[in-house]
This record gives sequence, C-alpha cells and structure tokens, in this order.
Amino acid sequence: MANHEEQFKKLIAHAKEYGFIFPSSEIYDGLAAVYDYGQYGVELKNNIRQYWWKSMVQMHENVVGLDSAIFMHPTIWKASGHVDAFNDPMIDNKDSKKRYRADVLIEDYCAKIEDKINKEVEKAAKRFGDSFDKNQFVTTNPRVLEYQQKIENTLHRMNKGLAENNLADVKALIEELEIVCPMSGSRNWTDIRQFNLMFSTQIGSLSEEANTIYLRPETAQGIFVNFLNVQKTSRMKIPFGIAQTGKAFRNEIVARQFIFRMREFEQMEMQFFVRPGTEMEWFEYWKTSRMEWHKSLGIPAEKYRFHDHEKLAHYANAATDIEFEFLFGFKELEGIHSRTDFDLAQHQEFSGKKMQYFDPELNESYIPYVVETSIGLDRTCLAMLSHAYNEEVLEDGSTRVVMKFPPVLAPYKIAVLPLVKKDGMPEKAREIMDTLKGDFMCQYDEKDAIGRRYRRQDAIGTPFCITIDTQTLGDNTVTIRYRDTMQQDRIAIAEIANVIRENL
Ligand code: GAP
Repeated sequence: MANHEEQFKKLIAHAKEYGFIFPSSEIYDGLAAVYDYGQYGVELKNNIRQYWWKSMVQMHENVVGLDSAIFMHPTIWKASGHVDAFNDPMIDNKDSKKRYRADVLIEDYCAKIEDKINKEVEKAAKRFGDSFDKNQFVTTNPRVLEYQQKIENTLHRMNKGLAENNLADVKALIEELEIVCPMSGSRNWTDIRQFNLMFSTQIGSLSEEANTIYLRPETAQGIFVNFLNVQKTSRMKIPFGIAQTGKAFRNEIVARQFIFRMREFEQMEMQFFVRPGTEMEWFEYWKTSRMEWHKSLGIPAEKYRFHDHEKLAHYANAATDIEFEFLFGFKELEGIHSRTDFDLAQHQEFSGKKMQYFDPELNESYIPYVVETSIGLDRTCLAMLSHAYNEEVLEDGSTRVVMKFPPVLAPYKIAVLPLVKKDGMPEKAREIMDTLKGDFMCQYDEKDAIGRRYRRQDAIGTPFCITIDTQTLGDNTVTIRYRDTMQQDRIAIAEIANVIRENL
C-alpha cells in the first residue's frame, strides 16, 4: 500500500506539472475538493465525454440527449427525496476536531481486514508454488474464512443501522471495533448526525426561504422532469433513454483522494424508461453493456468488477456498482440502478401533472419504470490517469514517465517535430501539420533536442510523433514514432493520416 500511496502522490504531482489538473484557486491556497482541468486535462475529459456520448446516444437509436439547467425548482428536490434523505452520517473526533463519514470509517476498517486476506493469499501462493489454487484456498482456509465473516458481519450491521436510522448502533459498532481517528489516534468520538449534502443558494434579490434553491446533486432529475417533453417531441416509444452530461454538486464530508471525491464534479447519466415488470431484464442489459464500454478502452478486465448493493438507495429495487481498481483499491466508478417508478411518481404527486406514458401496443397509460446508468466523468479521468501513468527504465539506463492513455482518449494525438530549427524543416513540418490538424489534435514543437521532445510528448501521452528530417525534404517521407513501444517507422507523408486512423 505504501508503494501505491507513493505512486498516487507522484500521479497528482505529474497531473499538475504537466497541465492536466490544478487545485482550484491555488494562489489563494486552494479550495478543498475543487479542481481545475488544465490544457491537457480538458482534452482528456472532453474525449471521455465524447466517447461516452457516442456510445450511448449515437450508437443507440432509442437514446437521445438533453442539456437541462443546473438550477431547478426547489420542489424537485423535495419530491426526489434529496431534501429529507440525501444525507451522510457524520462523526467528529473530539481531539483532532476532524470530521469523518461514519460509514467510511467502518469501510476503511474492513479494507484493512481485506489487506490481511490478501497477505495470507500471497504467503500461501509462495508456499505452494505452481500447485496453488487461490479459489480453493480462500474458500477453505480457516483464518481467511474468519476474516471474511468478520467483514460480512460488520458491513451487515452497519447497513442495518443506517437503513433503520439507528445511528446509536453505528456509533456502538465504531466503538466495539476500536476504530481510532487516523489523525489523533484517539477514540473520543461525538454522536453520529445526519448531514445533508446539497448546497443551497438564493435566487432573485430577496434572501427569503421561499427563494432558496439548490445546486443539483445529480443530473438525473433534469431528465425526469423533462421526460414527457422529450418523449412527445422525439416521438420515442418505450423502451427509450435520455442521456445527459453535466455538473453536479455535493458538500462532501470526506473530501480527499484528489478528483475521486469532489464537491463540484461532472456526471454522465442515462435514464432508460421501460414497461413496468421488464426493468430487471433492462437492468441486466445495461449492466453488461456498461461493463463492455469500460473494457473497450483497452484497460485489463481484472481492473474492473461489479459490486452489488446490499443497502439500496431510497428509490432503487436493484443496484450495482462498476468498481475500478484505483491506486487506493477497488472503488465505485459507475452506478447502475433500477429506480422503479419512484421519481416519476413523486414528480406526478408534487407537481400535480401527469407523468404517464400511453403505450400504443398495450393500449394503456402507465408511469414507466427507469433503469439508470450514472458514471462520474472526473472519476473516469482519474481511472485513466492512474492506469496510464508508467515509469519505465530504458535500455540505456535512463527513465521515462509515459502516460499510456488509450489513443482514442489521448489529449493530443500527434506531435509534429522538425528535427532541427533550420534548413526548411520547420516550414515542411508546418505544412504537414496543416494537413492533419483538421482531423486530429496536433501539437507543434521545435524546441530542444529531439530526445527531450519525445519525453515531453510521452509525459502528456501523445501516441504518435512525426519527425521531419533532411530525408523528408528529398523524398516526402517522415519518421513515425509510437509512444508505447518507441518503435520508429519510415512512412510517406501521404500515408500519415491513414496509419494514425488505423492505430486509433
Ligand atoms: N443519479 C444517481 C447518482 O447520482 P451516485 O452513485 O450518487 O448516483 C453516480 O453517483 C456517480 O457519480 C458515481 O458512480 C461517481 O462516479 C460519481 N460521483 C458521485 N459523487 C462524486 C463526487 N463527490 N466526486 C466525484 N464523482 C462523484
């Protein structure tokens, strides 16, 4: 883990040094859990958003887009349950004065037991060598079974306490497990209280209660309240979906782990409206389809796993997370929820407007059920950054840091590099760049020795470098250098776009 922590610190430093992500308001010492995307970060983020949009909207005839406002009528959040139930259980340590989420303290405790299981597995793998059967070991070894049972019992009791709002029992659990404050090491805890995560502000010129509105904590409600507008104007028939990407805001208690948990972040959500009774079929469909999307990015499959929810949100009848193995362990990247007709029924009740769909095949009206896919754009950026970051020792003993992004997501696709800054090479390089920049994000660089320029491109993850040299001026060929293998090939200028397209 220490190694992973070290690696994570290096990644954060690299992201800042190379213009991916800056702390917000840095010259004023920053603002906790708020970040800005720099010149390369914004390209990475745009590419992920576009890749998602293409796969969800462009590739699905029955999914259309939407861009609803961040500000919405405050009653929406009453209807959705967020005013009353969008809470986290918070607990303070009286000695360090630090605030924690009670559930996160308990989950971290379980993660430590999980580490112990992994150590047992490692030890046994060494002891038994080739004949080691991991599955058999973890299902029969008494110590591992005991650890697993402990995790299961702990999480079960915590979830029960949270579901029944029995916060005293959750506190008792923290005390029984002898969980200490990571800062002070003390067990001097306050009672647990519920803390609402929504930010509020005033609309208009009067600051009366009636003018209080919220910054949306999810983009989904904008889709629900526009459900009939979109359905009628697009003439969509059920099943169909509405997708949108946009900012969401949560006053997170535990704001750490870089862009994993932010107070202002971006979601990519899709609500799929289905006939009641068919929701489990669609839940399975979207579960598979979303996992395929993640795997299509070329990151090893073992980096992803499903985690089915034991404790369901107030609106769901089935829920799973797609978790990614970040540098701090497996954590939620995307949520897939079967939200029943909860939201539409609530909006129908609170607005007094019908939220029903007339199904021409059944010749009846009903409130559709909804299957939701909801992925954090910033978390996906973090997943891509952590997977991409590699430190390599080269044959000559030197090292390079290379960001091995899937080429389709790389901020810049091509670097155009004249070998030297004279003899007509810069002019030729500009000419080549002009033919490519309409189709690909290209960067021109003529400063420093070519080796240093390659390193700079490796550090921002540019998959292809095109070098223009003396030979280019004679025979219209260039060198193309591949980021991951560092292999260099000679190709005709006329072929550059094709070769790159094939590799993307
Ligand atoms: N509409 C459903 C919904 O909002 P969620 O599980 O609360 O569900 C969905 O959030 C996704 O949004 C998460 O899987 C995560 O990727 C992202 N997300 C949630 N809170 C976040 C935060 N504070 N910072 C960054 N991403 C966050």
